[in-house]
Amino acid sequence: MKVLLTGATGLVGSRIVQLLQDRDIPFCFFTRNLNASFLSGAHAFLWNPNRFEFDPKALEGVTHIINLAGASIAKRWTASYKEEVVRSRVNSLKTIKLALEQRVHPTKVRVLSASAIGCYASNYSEQYSEQSVHFGNDFLAEVVQLWEEAAKELIPLSHSLCLLRIGIVFDREQGALPKLLAPIKWGIGAALGTGRQWQSWIHIDDLARLFIYLLDHDLGPVVNGVAPNALRQNELTKILASTLNKPLWLPAVPEWVLKLMLGEMSAVVLQSQHVKSEVLERSDFQFHYDSAKAAVEELLGE
Ligand SMILES: NC(=O)c1ccc[n+]([C@@H]2O[C@H](COP(=O)([O-])OP(=O)(O)OC[C@H]3O[C@@H](n4cnc5c(N)ncnc54)[C@H](OP(=O)(O)O)[C@@H]3O)[C@@H](O)[C@H]2O)c1
Repeated sequence: MKVLLTGATGLVGSRIVQLLQDRDIPFCFFTRNLNASFLSGAHAFLWNPNRFEFDPKALEGVTHIINLAGASIAKRWTASYKEEVVRSRVNSLKTIKLALEQRVHPTKVRVLSASAIGCYASNYSEQYSEQSVHFGNDFLAEVVQLWEEAAKELIPLSHSLCLLRIGIVFDREQGALPKLLAPIKWGIGAALGTGRQWQSWIHIDDLARLFIYLLDHDLGPVVNGVAPNALRQNELTKILASTLNKPLWLPAVPEWVLKLMLGEMSAVVLQSQHVKSEVLERSDFQFHYDSAKAAVEELLGE
């Protein structure tokens, strides 16, 4: 087995790389900037997906691909940035396709491509599984649809493709959790919007372990990358505050304030997606963190 990653320098990718190193699994990765990469060295190969350029040496001996590359959605969604969010994902996959097509000794690979639960329509009552086809029609849902369509273009070049629809990733230093924690630490924490919206999450370590597990476990074309127990936003806020021993005394932040502050990006915290993974429930994959309380306590602990 030899794994080629894209987006290896990001939050999820860097944790996966640690696990690959721990388990002595050979790997290499594409990055847009060799100098900026703390992972540089023998494993790093340059690419520029927006120009469909890549170093073909990266493909030598590759049997598996983990695709994570894409511009962050946690930046202001101007019209041009929205284009960048889509283009970066679609062009990364097109570049991978080109690289596979141009291999001197073409062999089919297994592809794990990141996707997101943002594809499912925001809904307070419905529970989604991999079988669900009730998709949203907002920007995030549109991004995921275009992203997954581009990934499916790899099917003829792969012996199997898995789209991993990732939930909100809980990590100590990056992503959603530190942003939710900041006001609580200052004593001005409050639930967001109605507080009733479902948040489907996964601990960074479980997500990285899941990617490794899926390298040699083909569970089908779609897997929801979420922990077994989603919870409502106001429940999460209470867990964060109690873990930090901080009071919650302010009323919930109204939706219109969040829309004013964050613009269209407020969808990230206001959307409600109650997502389950039936596929993982049927498998022997073991979550280390299946309750948000356990995950938060581990991440905020010393
Ligand atoms: N974190 C979450 O809560 C979450 C939830 C659902 C889905 N996801 C998806 O899972 C993937 C990995 O998430 P993450 O949190 O690890 O993301 P991240 O920390 O933002 O890292 C993404 C990586 O993509 C590459 N990248 C950034 N901008 C790019 C651009 N304009 N064109 C091409 N490549 C670019 C970068 O690698 P180089 O600089 O080395 O090229 C970067 O390290 C992302 O696609 C994300 O949308 C994440």
